[in-house]
Amino acid sequence: MYILGIETSCDETGVAIYDSSFIEKGAPAHLGLVSQTLFSQVEMHQEYGGVVPELASRDHVKQILPLIDLCLKDAELHLSDLNTIAYTQGPGLAGALLVGTSIAKSIAYSLNISAIGIHHLEGHLLSPLLSPNLPAGHIHHLFPFLALLVSGGHTQIMLVKGVGEYELLGETLDDAAGEAFDKTAKLLGLGYPGGPLVSALALKGKPSQIRLPRPLLHSKNLDFSFAGLKTAVLTQVKLSAQLPKSELEQFKADLALDFVNSVVDVLTAKVLQAAKETGCQRLVVAGGVGANQQLRASLNKLAHHPQWPVTTLYPPLNLCTDNGAMIAFAATLQLLKDSSQIDQTLAFNVKPRWTLGN
Ligand code: KG4
Ligand code: ZN
Repeated sequence: MYILGIETSCDETGVAIYDSSFIEKGAPAHLGLVSQTLFSQVEMHQEYGGVVPELASRDHVKQILPLIDLCLKDAELHLSDLNTIAYTQGPGLAGALLVGTSIAKSIAYSLNISAIGIHHLEGHLLSPLLSPNLPAGHIHHLFPFLALLVSGGHTQIMLVKGVGEYELLGETLDDAAGEAFDKTAKLLGLGYPGGPLVSALALKGKPSQIRLPRPLLHSKNLDFSFAGLKTAVLTQVKLSAQLPKSELEQFKADLALDFVNSVVDVLTAKVLQAAKETGCQRLVVAGGVGANQQLRASLNKLAHHPQWPVTTLYPPLNLCTDNGAMIAFAATLQLLKDSSQIDQTLAFNVKPRWTLGN
């Protein structure tokens, strides 16, 4: 079965083709990814300091068909070889989601094949299973695992018991981790998206110069809160107006460092707490913030924890941010589990707000 995956929930147009026969044979899952293409709109939105929804939708319209053609060409396939079209149904920007959904349903209708709507976060949380570093054996042996979903719109810890079986253990009460990175970048006068820029600046920071709060670090539940951290950064930025100009750059680097440390400390502590509460000691990290090297270093240290060693699996770096491969792959796993789930209606039922888990 060839599954075409289409992702247009925000500011990346992603298309990929996945060949399900690899999973059916028990081969490493990443081998099934026969082609993938991506167009990032980041440059276009940069001058506005964030994503402009209307511009995002218009650009998806421009990019989507050429990307599908390119993907088919790379895979040496024709449209008629496809068995299913998978598309991101939500959550995301309504107009942007509609572009992918309309194209997916139109192609499926014209080929008389099925179209399947995928939850964007399900795509993210299953994407680490596409890592070439998976232990040998069938991917289903990896379940159950904990998933830390850290993107621009979400911060959640889930217990993944199997494909489609997701238990929400905790989530952010306000800003998402990626959002906090982006807002901090803005306060520090950096560009968009802020995550990689704040992380790079943090590498120049001196430790222990500034101490920001670690929100909800010691709370009993697994929820997060990053809005107060952003306010604490704002307070520091205001205080820095009194500094001589020559000290400003180092101050910003020190602030970036403690901001990153704060986010990383909280995420790491909650992962450890989730491992203790569930007894589950395998973790996958997904979403854009999962590309953060400081976070990876901290989570990797958990492998040496004396009582609760947690092993962590990441998606390949190019699959950390939004992409079509994760959508094609999540659809493949769903289809192999239960093909009666396929949504064959032609209604454009996008779900801009859609909760995963309970
Ligand atoms: O998953 P994603 O591509 O899109 C959403 O679904 O939101 O995540 C984007 C978020 C942005 O907030 C971006 O600043 C953040 O991921 N991000 C990072 C890094 N790379 C991207 N945050 C921290 N460190 C990074 N290296
Ligand atoms: Zn995403």
